[in-house]
Amino acid sequence: MVVAPCQSETASRVLHIGDPAPNFEARTTMGPIALADFRGRWLVLFSHPADFTPVCTSEFIALARASDQFEALQCSLLAVSVDSLYAHLAWVRAIRDGFGVTINFPIVEDTSVIIGRAYGMVAEHAPDAAAMRSTYFIDPAGYIRAMTCYPATVGRSVDEMLRVLAALQAVDADDVVTPEGWQPGEAALLPPEQDQAILLEAADDPTWFCRFKPHAPKG
Ligand code: BEZ
Repeated sequence: MVVAPCQSETASRVLHIGDPAPNFEARTTMGPIALADFRGRWLVLFSHPADFTPVCTSEFIALARASDQFEALQCSLLAVSVDSLYAHLAWVRAIRDGFGVTINFPIVEDTSVIIGRAYGMVAEHAPDAAAMRSTYFIDPAGYIRAMTCYPATVGRSVDEMLRVLAALQAVDADDVVTPEGWQPGEAALLPPEQDQAILLEAADDPTWFCRFKPHAPKG
């Protein structure tokens, strides 16, 4: 059962970076949960097309094994699919029995696709929910800060999820932007200058439009 106030069961909306993450209340494998329960922490909310499928199983095992790394970034994990709570529970048990891995994050039941449509995980007239391999990075204030959407046939990279999360946190912590392939601990870029007076008077630098932030001296 899912409760998503102010959201019709058929309308599918398009979410954008910067939008408030739509709230919902739902049953999960770890008891009832509301999205608002995660306020004050980062949250990676991710959908998967179906329980008991190979790509999804590989993702869940990798995410469970990496849960300490998400926790170190003060980030919770929350999975969602259109399968029933009982299918989720059976899958969790099968993963534990078959692979020796305990799924240590909740899996939301979204049989009515209310959450899927509220987040635009499925197109309004999609015949099924197989397009659902979406990921939402939600900040402690409840805003969507990044999103990815993969086809059912392509598994996500948990390392990339951790990297995006760390990059979002680095950007929030400092006045920087992160370059291609940035990894935690590496130098970040200065944000683009927006004042021509500063640019025109700056020291002659042919790379003025793409500069790393100098490391602050330690001590
Ligand atoms: C999978 O997770 O393996 C999968 C799910 C739906 C369609 C294709 C693959």
